[in-house]
Amino acid sequence: MTTGIACISSYESNDSLVILASQKSNLKKHGLTDKETGYIREQIELRFRKNGDAPEGKLDDNVFLINQYNREVFVVIPNRKSERHLFLEECRRSGHHAVRAVNSEKLKNVTLVNDTGDEEALLALAEGMMLSNYQFLKYKKDPQKEAHTLRGISLLKKEVSQKNADHLALVVNATCTARDLVNEHPAVLTAVQLAEEARKLCKEAGIRVEVFNKAKIEALKMGGLLAVNRGSQLPPTFTVMEWKPPGTAGKKPIVLVGKGVVYDTGGLSLKPTPNSMDYMKSDMSGAAAVICSLYAVAKAKLPVHVIGLVPSTDNRPGENAYVPGDVVQMHNGLTVEVLNTDAEGRMILADALSYAKQFGPELVLDIATLTGAAARAIGTQGIVFMGTAGEKIKKDLVKCGNRVYERLVEFPIWEEYDEMIKSDIADIRNIGGAMAGAITAGKFLQHFTSYPWVHLDIAGGAFLDRNDHYRLKNATGIGVRLFFEYLKSRCK
Ligand code: BES
Ligand code: ZN
Ligand code: ZN
Repeated sequence: MTTGIACISSYESNDSLVILASQKSNLKKHGLTDKETGYIREQIELRFRKNGDAPEGKLDDNVFLINQYNREVFVVIPNRKSERHLFLEECRRSGHHAVRAVNSEKLKNVTLVNDTGDEEALLALAEGMMLSNYQFLKYKKDPQKEAHTLRGISLLKKEVSQKNADHLALVVNATCTARDLVNEHPAVLTAVQLAEEARKLCKEAGIRVEVFNKAKIEALKMGGLLAVNRGSQLPPTFTVMEWKPPGTAGKKPIVLVGKGVVYDTGGLSLKPTPNSMDYMKSDMSGAAAVICSLYAVAKAKLPVHVIGLVPSTDNRPGENAYVPGDVVQMHNGLTVEVLNTDAEGRMILADALSYAKQFGPELVLDIATLTGAAARAIGTQGIVFMGTAGEKIKKDLVKCGNRVYERLVEFPIWEEYDEMIKSDIADIRNIGGAMAGAITAGKFLQHFTSYPWVHLDIAGGAFLDRNDHYRLKNATGIGVRLFFEYLKSRCK
């Protein structure tokens, strides 16, 4: 379920409003009485008094509610911040608080009004509201009972451009679709079903799509994907999606590769229970990010040539499962000694990275819930990245990461780490040692790349065990907004 956006010329006197304001705003022009503005002034003073102490009540969220006789008015005053991207994030977070207030007032629609003249800030507020309004109610007996009331947000034509509003609607919708895919449980979302979902989205958006079945994957000698799939009762898939709009002929594509492990038990190197396996349905979050960002890019008709690759399987300890000690020949011919079957993500990504070579890509970005080490290193707040792409590309990615607040932290891929994945009998092995686990995983992948490449490890931020403002508990849809922002920046 996603929240709609409409651009309107003007609003009715009984439409409920969410006003984006600053401490300097004169709210009388939006139909507030002296008494009401006085009340807000009082609350603001309480809120922003010395050292930012939040007073009693729920004022710490910077949303002030005025109940008028025929409408509700929510005044949102985000905290000021020293940097632009921090302020925009503050607006999204205020959107989270605003939407909770709107839903507790049981409203179906609200109109956003901007008293700051800052269009980006208004769009960020709307984004936070829409992302916070997401729910996954498919398996509830009575979804209506639990559903939020808010259905749509209206923006004023004079305050936002139609294009910006459209892009916002598309990217939020795509992020919520990615959340749906990740939240779906693994008995339903098999590798075949994930490919089917990709196919449906691609068809709708005009993206060329092809799904390779097991026979084709065998013919292509994707040894890594086939090895991981050996413990499964179900076949693997490999999905190729291509968005090639007019005007991009002769240009090298950007290739996105997403880890599509629809469930990771660890295989024979079984994950220890309890708990460590509980949310391993989220191990296809990278795949969801690739599919859904590509969907948004195509719906927005962005003039950039993008190819998406999604290798997919579950990872299980079946009777024919690959075992520690196996040597596997990969798509590019390299041999891998498997010493831990739980390091399966790199096995399937490696084949996809090798497959990407034929497109002569300008850049390949892979995204994966690859290592617990990355999550331990930076927690849920960021994305670990590394790679061989040039400084300009890395800087631009970091910038886009800050803007959408899916922040990137670079880890080194120094040559010396290669020592850690040397094998006695094969070319490389699939695990390093106790240290630098996120890096040795990246190092492994590097062996399958032959073009500018960046690896994104989203293990920390893909699936949360508690709400973090609009990044709600469970699937976050991480990566969709980042890729959309980056690909949009490549069109300028
Ligand atoms: N899917 C996991 C990584 C993961 C862990 C994602 C926690 C999200 C939360 C991955 O396949 C894995 O099991 N990695 C191993 C690698 C190890 C065996 C070298 C890990 O991180 O423990
Ligand atoms: Zn694993
Ligand atoms: Zn995994």
